[in-house]
Amino acid sequence: MPANNQQGPIVMVIFGAGGDLALRKLVPALYSLFLDRLLPERFAIVGVARKKLDDDGFRSRLREGVDTFSRRGRVDEEKWRAFASHLSYFAGDLTDQASGEALGRRLNEFDQEWNSRGDRVFYLAISPDLMVPAARYLEQFGICRDCKRDRLVVEKPFGRDLASARELDRLLTSLFAESQIYRIDHYLGKETVQNILAFRFANSLFEPIWNRRYIDHVQITVAETVGVEERGGYYDQAGALRDMVQNHLLQILCLIAMEPPISFAADEVRNKKVDVLRAIRPIRPEEVHQVAVRGQYGKGEAGGKQAPGYREEPNVAPGSSTETYAALKLFIDNWRWQGVPFYLRTGKRLQSKVSEAAILFRPAPHQLFPAAAVENWQPNRLVLRIQPEEGIVTRIQVKQPGTRMLLGPVDMQFRYREVFGSDAPEAYETLLLDVLRGDATLFMRADQVESAWAVITPVLEAWEAAPPAGFPDYPAGSWGPEGGDLLIAREGHSWLKPAVQNERKEEEG
Ligand code: BG6
Repeated sequence: MPANNQQGPIVMVIFGAGGDLALRKLVPALYSLFLDRLLPERFAIVGVARKKLDDDGFRSRLREGVDTFSRRGRVDEEKWRAFASHLSYFAGDLTDQASGEALGRRLNEFDQEWNSRGDRVFYLAISPDLMVPAARYLEQFGICRDCKRDRLVVEKPFGRDLASARELDRLLTSLFAESQIYRIDHYLGKETVQNILAFRFANSLFEPIWNRRYIDHVQITVAETVGVEERGGYYDQAGALRDMVQNHLLQILCLIAMEPPISFAADEVRNKKVDVLRAIRPIRPEEVHQVAVRGQYGKGEAGGKQAPGYREEPNVAPGSSTETYAALKLFIDNWRWQGVPFYLRTGKRLQSKVSEAAILFRPAPHQLFPAAAVENWQPNRLVLRIQPEEGIVTRIQVKQPGTRMLLGPVDMQFRYREVFGSDAPEAYETLLLDVLRGDATLFMRADQVESAWAVITPVLEAWEAAPPAGFPDYPAGSWGPEGGDLLIAREGHSWLKPAVQNERKEEEG
């Protein structure tokens, strides 16, 4: 199969190759890039993990992963064989001198075989406590030393609070150049998340109304139906605020709220995002209970089946006070957004899987229609649907057909599936390709990660200081705890029913 032969040779080394991320996301994404001929002719993928395993064992495990999780469906025998010839396994331990030297030799062999020094990408898909040893390992054995050719991809969570994120950064930037470090947030690779930039800055229609004068409030929802699955050990130490809000939700907020950058260059875009994070009004410790809500799921019904409560999940402490739901109200102190609340919510085991950002506009300034005409009247809204029904929905008021003047809402919809078919690349495909090409636009800079930690630190601290009463407080399969609704109801607002649900209801009706 012809490949991209414009690009020089590359080896990607995946630390944590035995884990879920490599199986479900990374290797299926690489396989997809291979099918699209986007990988260079000379490339190698080396999986590193502690377990003893040979290359064939590794390949067959990954093949199962691709069969199960790839958007392309089950593998084609011949194409898989061609792809698998680039895969190999290395059993190594991050604390072991001999293993570091052996990995160095393995990488040198590729260079000899290729007759040229390949680029090296080290993907750290490992638990947070292994990040520091892994970075030291790479440095100690001199295998990630070429700051033009060697890159490091750091998976989230990047630290577990502001202090540890700073410490990790200090270490990484003392060992590697900033341009070598790719801090990944896979939400930034999603087509619809990237489309927020296109929507805002490639259309002149919306910019004049994209501010406090016309926008009443913004709602960002990332709801999941899944529980913690096999990740209880990690999640019980993290919780929804660290796992989702610090990264994915704040990234979406940045894209909605940022000023137009002067170009699409990585640093221009990242500067504008950091400006947003720095303008978020700091939450004072005494107001945390008014602007932040946490919850934890108990037993319930999910997808027509009985689902266990969070505390019954594997590797979760029986009396755990970790939150599986978090909602926040934030304000951005700048000219554009002064006084406009941004409501964020996320949770596991909620009723539907849906990620969307909804922009709710102010009412028309003067209501000239008779009261009887506007009974069903609703303010305009724009919903940017990130997943699963990717698209954009605008709600406008129209005259209902008939002899009377009666107004009612209708939705104008753009659906990716209808316009472009359903073949969009997965977020990891986009991001891995960017790493291979050395484009950091969609990755986070250290100051961005730290500013995001600074936003949630007061909440983390207050929650840690006062364990929650009454957990679990929402049944699996619901829309979260009552407190989440009250948070927004205080200002006379209510969460939009996610569009997916509405559509199903309409379809059912
Ligand atoms: C990950 C979180 O970053 O994002 C998971 O660690 C979460 O807990 C996942 O399930 C959600 O990603 P997506 O792409 O399914 O919305």
